[in-house]
Amino acid sequence: MSIADDLLRLTNEAQQEIAAAADLDSLERLRVKYLGKKGSLSLVLRGMGAVPPAERPAIGDAVNKAKTQVEELLATAQTKLAHAALEAELSAPKLDVTLPGRAHFRGRRHPVSRTLDEVVEIFARMGFRVASGPEIELDRYNFELLGMPEGHPARDMQDTFYVDVATLPGAPVGTVLRTHTSPVQIRTMLTQKPPVRIVCPGKVYRCDSDVTHTPMFHQIECLHVERGLTLAHLKGTLDAFVKAFFGDDIRTRLRPSYFPFVEPGCEVDISCVLCRGKGCRVCKQTGFIEVLGAGMVHPEVLRGVGYDPDEVTGYAFGAGLDRMAMLKYGLDDLRVLFENDVRLVSA
Ligand code: DAH
Repeated sequence: MSIADDLLRLTNEAQQEIAAAADLDSLERLRVKYLGKKGSLSLVLRGMGAVPPAERPAIGDAVNKAKTQVEELLATAQTKLAHAALEAELSAPKLDVTLPGRAHFRGRRHPVSRTLDEVVEIFARMGFRVASGPEIELDRYNFELLGMPEGHPARDMQDTFYVDVATLPGAPVGTVLRTHTSPVQIRTMLTQKPPVRIVCPGKVYRCDSDVTHTPMFHQIECLHVERGLTLAHLKGTLDAFVKAFFGDDIRTRLRPSYFPFVEPGCEVDISCVLCRGKGCRVCKQTGFIEVLGAGMVHPEVLRGVGYDPDEVTGYAFGAGLDRMAMLKYGLDDLRVLFENDVRLVSA
């Protein structure tokens, strides 16, 4: 076999092996194998002794060309493998100590819970205690003893969820989800003699859902029954409460209204907490916002729970806590309170 044949075979072989090399180490071994001092191509040069002197320059030239070719193959393969190795290193998961630390999430109480706590605290300072009642309530306490017997038109003011008693063993016919916190007035008066001075915060339910109504919302009820109470006590208590909660410059305004369990009854407006009474979008340019219903407890309600309306009188009111939370914290859609948006409870 001629030297030229040897060179051709070697370069082909080198080309195949270099293409198959999996890493930089294998490539280095191939470099030594072909180009090293005792490498295959160097061995070909040693065979020159047997070549006639006239042909030697041409053979030497061919060997050099073969070397250059193998060198180039090695260099290209090396670049490719080095690139792949870098890529692999970068994509492998590892500890990056330069990354900033993870911020810890700090929570705080929901605006409605904060409002509830604050309102209760204000009334506690004025000598009221907290009473509570069930959310699944009897028709009798939710309506009847509050001056709304069956068929009374005022029942239509509250879209009621009726409990399907067939699915709730032991529940009497006429079980409802309470539509207001007012039944707690009845429950309290049935179990204690006057004087009564309570507030009752809690969840209430109505079959209603739009921008300003959610099927579940919160109210706080206030009831004060004692000898000699008048509308002036109601007005004074409301005024003190509103000032303590929204600020000293907020005024109250009573408007005559109807609720079956009070006489007289009124709706209570406060001067707008956003524009401070000047007129804005929230108060519809009136300077006032409606916040609660109130009145003097109806003599029939007092009689119904065994109190003597000639002996004692009382005042009561019920306020929407969610609305108060919205006004206090500047929210413009009631529903955000119940959509589990985590920003509402982050510090
Ligand atoms: N319970 C009434 C409602 O949810 C609000 C209310 C009005 C409560 C007058 C009262 C009151 O205690 O005296 O619409």
